[in-house]
Amino acid sequence: MWAGYAFAKDFRCGQCHDEYYFQGKEKRLTYPWDKGLKIENILAYYEENGHKDWTHALTGAPVLKAQHPEFEMWNQGIHARSGVACADCHMPYQRVGALKISDHHVRSPLLNINRACQPCHHFSEEELRSRAEAIQERTFKLRNQAMDALVGLITDLKAAKDAGRPDAELAPV
Ligand code: HEC
Ligand code: HEC
Ligand code: HEC
Repeated sequence: MWAGYAFAKDFRCGQCHDEYYFQGKEKRLTYPWDKGLKIENILAYYEENGHKDWTHALTGAPVLKAQHPEFEMWNQGIHARSGVACADCHMPYQRVGALKISDHHVRSPLLNINRACQPCHHFSEEELRSRAEAIQERTFKLRNQAMDALVGLITDLKAAKDAGRPDAELAPV
């Protein structure tokens, strides 16, 4: 089943840190990746198979919720393309006595930039932190813009529904 997928495979962490749903009556754990890992691929998959996570109470719209798609996000980034695995950042090597072992305190690599990033990047901690935070701040702003637009849409949809516009007319929205 996996052979056809053309993306970097790190299923040690990707078993859990990804988007999935429970299919059918037997509730089989299923990854919606037949068309690829990008959000538009996953949406196309769900639109074809008709799965929804729940029905929105105000609008009646079928809703999907991405669980925690770290695996998918990582796959679209420069680190996966460069062969850097989850554990390289989240479980960096540490020295214990004469031994070198991977750190099993899995946590934010930004708490540990020295061991998580600097074996590969010879820039200061401040620069590495600020690169990561700039990406986070940009993403957070974009998310907030999208959320405001979405709440506007929900309000309008509810008003249209309350005004008696038929479901068939509202479905594309
Ligand atoms: C069996 C499922 C499973 C696997 C496999 C797994 N995780 Fe997790 N991980 C979880 C769950 C569940 C949580 C949330 C735990 C909580 O909030 O108490 C979590 C939390 C985390 C966190 C957040 C920790 C924090 O500081 O709050 C990180 C980072 C993380 N995992 C990274 C990884 C990495 C890297 C791997 C592979 C080496 C991995 N996980 C493998 C299930 C898994
Ligand atoms: C290049 C390094 C790098 C790689 C590779 C990487 N991560 Fe991360 N990860 C980060 C950074 C940096 C953060 C943000 C931490 C913060 O804001 O404190 C993060 C955040 C997370 C979080 C949220 C932690 C929390 O406390 O909320 C999880 C879960 C996680 N990563 C899992 C994964 C998984 C699973 C993979 C592989 C599929 C992966 N990461 C690959 C660097 C990496
Ligand atoms: C195992 C090696 C490795 C580790 C660990 C690693 N990186 Fe990278 N990183 C790379 C490679 C390879 C690239 C691709 C560019 C290059 O070749 O320098 C890259 C690229 C980047 C870029 C440039 C992204 C862009 O789009 O231009 C940033 C920023 C970055 N890493 C930050 C981090 C941070 C922060 C950490 C620690 C949380 C980290 N990296 C951990 C190897 C690593």
